[in-house]
Amino acid sequence: MTTVRINAGRAYDVHIGAGLTARAGELARSVLSPCRICVITDTTVQRLYLEAVKKSLSDAGFSVCSYAFPAGEQSKNMTTLSDILEFLAERGITRSDAILALGGGVAGDITGFAAGVFLRGIKFIQMPTTLLAAVDSSVGGKTAVDLKAGKNLAGVFLQPSMVICDTDTLKTLPGETLACGIAEAIKTGVLFDEELFSLFENGRVSKDTLPFIIERCVTHKGRVVEADEFDRGERQLLNLGHTVGHAIEKLSAYGVSHGHAVAMGMGIIARASAASGYCGDDTAKRIERALINNSLPVSCGFSAAELSRAALSDKKRKGDTINLVIPESIGRCRLMKINIDGLESFIKKGTEA
Ligand SMILES: NC(=O)c1ccc[n+]([C@@H]2O[C@H](COP(=O)([O-])OP(=O)(O)OC[C@H]3O[C@@H](n4cnc5c(N)ncnc54)[C@H](O)[C@@H]3O)[C@@H](O)[C@H]2O)c1
Ligand SMILES: [Zn+2]
Repeated sequence: MTTVRINAGRAYDVHIGAGLTARAGELARSVLSPCRICVITDTTVQRLYLEAVKKSLSDAGFSVCSYAFPAGEQSKNMTTLSDILEFLAERGITRSDAILALGGGVAGDITGFAAGVFLRGIKFIQMPTTLLAAVDSSVGGKTAVDLKAGKNLAGVFLQPSMVICDTDTLKTLPGETLACGIAEAIKTGVLFDEELFSLFENGRVSKDTLPFIIERCVTHKGRVVEADEFDRGERQLLNLGHTVGHAIEKLSAYGVSHGHAVAMGMGIIARASAASGYCGDDTAKRIERALINNSLPVSCGFSAAELSRAALSDKKRKGDTINLVIPESIGRCRLMKINIDGLESFIKKGTEA
């Protein structure tokens, strides 16, 4: 097991390793006194891992209940949130109890939100079971649900009390879901870490390297969150590929998954940046190669006009400008303000290249 400490406003440990489900109860005891824990999961993860997690928690002296919502992004909404809150209230969960998110980014985001607002805030633990949740969403304290107007438009900042990542759970991930996490890990490489990036550039990564990839990504994300917990500056770098990616998700009515949309967004931004002279052609080509090597798409069927219109309804817009993350070289990116009138022509350089 490796442990990464995140020194956010509330400091916590991220434990990464094989076989951690069996140790979840024991690990949770280091941050929680004996109490009730409600495990929130989706129906797919429920079938695979819920019983083992419940056993581990009850063996460690916790009293456990659980709630499962239908798997998929369509569940990440106010209705599911409200159902979870009603369930917690019916079960008489108090402020000395806790909830645990078991699953991917959807379970993590919605459970974190529920923890932030139920009784004005109770503790929660993240147990990510997708690579995307392990490398990205389980760390950093952003919680959310989607609104009809767009993704992640309602949520709170709330850091978990602990993150427990059992890398064995990643073995049951379908290839396409695994690739979504790879997209976020490639993003981390482009942002901060050429050595990490080269793993993807050199070919398809093997499952054996996932624990290393998770540790590196969590360490980088932790450093950014420590510097800018509430997303006022440096943390916005983590949005590389996301402005266009969120537009793709929205235009596809969430038919394109988050990770695939981010991969397409990174491809488009990389080509647009090279065509604008912000980075060399080789940087854009390397980003494309790393994505393609790992079965990820680098372009989409939407036009620049559609993408910029959808992107401008995104919450990252500030007045007449929008912040974009521009790769300068592998391992170095910068935030750039683009005038909203220029967004479509910038994106066009990436969709037509
Ligand atoms: N909070 C953040 O900082 C942050 C960061 C990145 C992404 N996100 C959010 O994360 C979400 C995407 O996360 P995701 O890709 O994990 O989606 P997800 O939670 O929907 O999981 C994807 C699918 O994999 C299944 N699954 C989960 N674990 C499994 C396992 N071990 N074996 C087999 N199947 C398994 C799930 O049931 C689901 O069908 C998006 O809503 C995105 O906005 C949040
Ligand atoms: Zn993301």
